[in-house]
Amino acid sequence: MAKPKLLIARKLRPLVEERAARDYDVVLNHDDKVLSSEELITACRAVDAVLPCHSEHFSAEVIKAIGSGLKIIANHSVGTDHVDLAAAKAAGIVVTNTPDVLSDATAEIAILCMLGAARRGAEGDALVRSGQWNFWSPAFMVGRQVTAKRFGVLGMGRVGQVTAERARGFGMEIHYHNRRRLPEHLEKGAIFHDSLESLLAVSDVLSLHCPSTPDNKGIINAQTLGLLPDRAIVVNTARGALIDEVALVEALKSGKLFAAGLDVFQTEPGGNPALASLPNVFLLPHIGSATEETRDAMGFRALDNLDAYFAGKEPADRVA
Ligand code: DGY
Repeated sequence: MAKPKLLIARKLRPLVEERAARDYDVVLNHDDKVLSSEELITACRAVDAVLPCHSEHFSAEVIKAIGSGLKIIANHSVGTDHVDLAAAKAAGIVVTNTPDVLSDATAEIAILCMLGAARRGAEGDALVRSGQWNFWSPAFMVGRQVTAKRFGVLGMGRVGQVTAERARGFGMEIHYHNRRRLPEHLEKGAIFHDSLESLLAVSDVLSLHCPSTPDNKGIINAQTLGLLPDRAIVVNTARGALIDEVALVEALKSGKLFAAGLDVFQTEPGGNPALASLPNVFLLPHIGSATEETRDAMGFRALDNLDAYFAGKEPADRVA
C-alpha cells in the first residue's frame, strides 16, 4: 500500500524526520523558510497530511482554498491558535496538537523570564557584554526578590501546573485563576480565584499560561494591569495576543510594573521595538519549548497522532 503523503512544513529534529520518512512519503521544507499562504495552499493540496508549527496559519480562507484532499493537520505545537478549528471541522479535516510534552521546557523558560525580569538580567548582561561595567556598590542594580512572594498563574493547565511547582521551589505562594477549579491533588495548596480580578490583586508575579482564543485577546490591558499590586512583574510564555503591548509599555514606563519577562509577542518573528527599548524587560524569541528533548517529543507526538489517524484510530490529541 502506498504511504500517505505528508508535508512537514518546517525543519524538525533529525530523528523525527527519519521516523517520518520511514512511515510516510514526506515532503520536506529544506530551506526551513515560512511558507506564504499561497505556498501553503499549493503544498497542502498535494498531500494527505500536514505537520505544521505555529508559524503556519490555517485561516478559514486557507482551509477553504486547500479543498478536500487534506485529511489531517497534525500540529507540532500544543497551541492551536494558528488554525481556525471551526473551519477545519467544517471541512472535515482532523486537527491534533502536542500537549504534555512541552510543559517542563516551557516552565523552565517561564522561570527564566521571571528571574530575568526580577533580577534585571537583560540590563546586567548588556552591561558586562558591552565592556561598560566599571562600577559596583551595594546600591548597584538592585532588583526584586521573588522568594516568598505571591505567584499568580492565569491558566492552570499542564504548563501552568508545572510552572507553579517550580515557583514553589522559591517558597512562593501560588494563586491561580482557571475556568475550573482543580482537584485538591493537582491544586497542591494553590489558592483558587474565581475571577481574574481577584487573581490580579494578589499577583506579585503574574504568569500567563492560558491558550490564546478570540475571547481573551488583550486580556492583560491598561485596566487589568491597573489591578496588579504596584511594582508587579508580568511573565508571558503563552501567546503574545494575550497582552495589549501598548498598555504594557505604558505600565513598564510608569513604574506600575517593576519589569516584564516575555518569550512571546504580538508580532513574531520580530517582537516589539517599543518593548525592546525598555531596560526593565527581559526578552526571548519564543523558545519556550526549544530544547532537544522537547523538540524530539513534540515531533514524535505529532507522528503518533498521524499514525493513529492513518491506522483508522482516534488520534489521542484530537482537538477538531
Ligand atoms: C507551542 O507548542 O504552542 C509552542 O508555543 C511552540 O509552537
